[in-house]
Amino acid sequence: MDPDSVLTYTQANKAAWNASAHLHGQGASWDALLLAAGQPGFNVLDDCLNATLSDLGVEGCSAVQIGCNNARELLSLAALGARPVLGIDQSAAFLAQGAQLAAAARLSPRLLAADVYELPDGLGQHDLALITIGVLNWMPDLPRFFQVVRGLLHPGAHLVINETHPILEMFNPDSATPLVPETSYFEKTPVRIDEAITYDGTDAGEGETGYWFLHTLGDIVTACVQSGFHLQRLEEHPHLNREEDYAIYENQPAQLPLCYTLVAKAI
Ligand SMILES: C[S@@+](CC[C@H](N)C(=O)[O-])C[C@H]1O[C@@H](n2cnc3c(N)ncnc32)[C@H](O)[C@@H]1O
Repeated sequence: MDPDSVLTYTQANKAAWNASAHLHGQGASWDALLLAAGQPGFNVLDDCLNATLSDLGVEGCSAVQIGCNNARELLSLAALGARPVLGIDQSAAFLAQGAQLAAAARLSPRLLAADVYELPDGLGQHDLALITIGVLNWMPDLPRFFQVVRGLLHPGAHLVINETHPILEMFNPDSATPLVPETSYFEKTPVRIDEAITYDGTDAGEGETGYWFLHTLGDIVTACVQSGFHLQRLEEHPHLNREEDYAIYENQPAQLPLCYTLVAKAI
C-alpha cells in the first residue's frame, strides 16, 4: 500500500482510538486495574502468554510493546523479570492512562505516542518485542509493520505475538446465524468501523470512523519472516482472547482456532 494511503488510515484510526479512550479510563474496571497495578506481582497477561514468555526466559530483557494501549500488559512484563522500557501507541489519550498505571506500579517505561509507521529515530534495539490482541488488524501494511518491529530489535532478540486468529474474522457473533461464515477469509477491503471502540462488545454508540484490515495467517507469517525473523513457534489455540460476544465460538464440538501465539527470533 502506498505510504499516503497508510497515513490516511492510521490517522483515522488514531482519532477513533483517542475518541474512545474516556470509555476505558473510568468506572469500576478502571479503578480495579489502577488498584491492581499498585500491587506486587501485577500481571494481566493470560496464562498462555505467561507460559510462552516464561519458556522463553525473559528475565532482564529490555522489552518494547507495539500497540501497547494503556500499557497494562507492558507493565505486567515486570512480574516475569523483564524490563518494560518502551511502549508505543499512537493514542496519547490511552498512554495518559498508561502513565497513571505506570506510576501506580512504580515503573517508568517510555510511553511514546507515535504512529508505528512514522517512528522517530533513536528508539534503540531491544531484547523482546510484544504484540498482543487487537493490533495487527489496525495495520494497513503488514510488510512495513514487521520491518519497523524488526528495527526495534537487535539480532537474536525475540518477537512474541499473541493475537486473535484471523479465521474469526469470517464470523459475525451478532448475526442470526453466527456459526455460518459471513466474510471471506481472503477479503482485502478494509472494514469501516463507526462505533466507539469497547473491549467487552458493549454498544457505546457512534465513535470516530476507523479501519480494520483482514490479514490471513499466511499474510502474517510471510510478512514476519520476510522482514528478518526466523519463525520458532506458531501455536493455534482453542481458547478465546477477544470480546465476550465471541464466546459462542469456544467449547464447540468441532473447534475453530480462536487465537494463536507466534514466537520469532530476529536474524
Ligand atoms: C486493541 S488495542 C491493544 C490492546 C492491548 N492488547 C491490551 O489489551 O491492552 C490496539 C492499540 O493499537 C494502537 N494502534 C493502532 N494503530 C496504530 C498505529 N498505526 N501506530 C501505533 N499504535 C496503533 C491503538 O491506538 C490501540 O491502543
